[in-house]
Amino acid sequence: MQKKYNIAIIGATGAVGQMMIQILLERNFPINNLYLLASEKSDGKKISVNGKDFTVEVLDGFDFNGVDIAMFSAGADVSKKYANLATKNNTIVIDNTSFFRYKKNIPLIIPEVNASAISEYKQTGIIANPNCSTIQMLVAINPIHDVVKIRRINVCTYQAVSGSGNLAIDELKKQVHAYVNNEPLISNVYPKQIAFNVIPQIDKFMDNGYTKEEMKMVWETKKILDENIEVNPTTVRVPVFYGHSEAVHLELEKKISAQKVKDILSNSNSGVILVDGYEDGNYPCAANECEDSNDVYVGRIREDISTKFGINMWVVSNNIRKGAAYNSIQIAELLIKDYL
Ligand code: A2P
Repeated sequence: MQKKYNIAIIGATGAVGQMMIQILLERNFPINNLYLLASEKSDGKKISVNGKDFTVEVLDGFDFNGVDIAMFSAGADVSKKYANLATKNNTIVIDNTSFFRYKKNIPLIIPEVNASAISEYKQTGIIANPNCSTIQMLVAINPIHDVVKIRRINVCTYQAVSGSGNLAIDELKKQVHAYVNNEPLISNVYPKQIAFNVIPQIDKFMDNGYTKEEMKMVWETKKILDENIEVNPTTVRVPVFYGHSEAVHLELEKKISAQKVKDILSNSNSGVILVDGYEDGNYPCAANECEDSNDVYVGRIREDISTKFGINMWVVSNNIRKGAAYNSIQIAELLIKDYL
């Protein structure tokens, strides 16, 4: 009989946590006990997913003893405070926050790109899940990098509000409603109105003038794919609920044709789907392709007319699924397949 595992989700009432529950069920993950944990305010709350009811418990005071895998998605402060409590009980932590990502001995995993690095978790008991915007970009470009080395990436992102959690989804809904009813717009999550606007800031500003979200793309690309790749990102929040879009401009070490890139991606069998043609609408869009999908969609592939070895592409994926919950569950699936 197949072994079953005790799983805890920390941040289970949040946008990512709820998706984690849904994807565990969608994929028939072999679960013995499922513990849903959140803050005191959610104690006893019932969560219904696919017709099944679950009760939320409080993280503070929770006994991790006997839990095989804990998936943290309740913010960096919560991971900082509680992840080590879990590992002390021999629970493996898959952390979806940025807290552990840049630490040397913590593997940062995108299963399609660097699955074998998972084994490093044995040093600390922790595996980090990368940032959503990095995940979809690297899934799309890794098959190309395998054939012709990428030297530099210029990328602009168009990121959905769900990346900032349920409060941000509510903020956009309320602002749209207020806007069409001629009422004042209230912003609590973002520094400016997000309805009918485009905000060139995600996360806090760093000393070099980039935002932390931008630096995450730099640091994580180097850690996961290749430390020699230079990345120049601009990350932007747009009034979209689900699905990040990215205009990715690659500079490669030698010439590769757009057709060759299309061939590589259509044969790669690594979670990439091409929606690419030079006709109206034949490209992926957040609200269309990726609503219920775990895949990464690529279109607008073309040769850069301004430089010799450049390729441009448009990359779209559901930030809550492949950018967060699904990637974590793929990691959990690898753990139970090869390590537990
Ligand atoms: P709660 O709903 O009880 O506040 P989102 O990313 O959608 O904003 O969700 C954040 C998630 O993190 C929620 O599930 C939230 O629970 C959880 N969370 C926030 N702070 C804590 C905390 N101190 N302890 C446990 N869970 C927390």
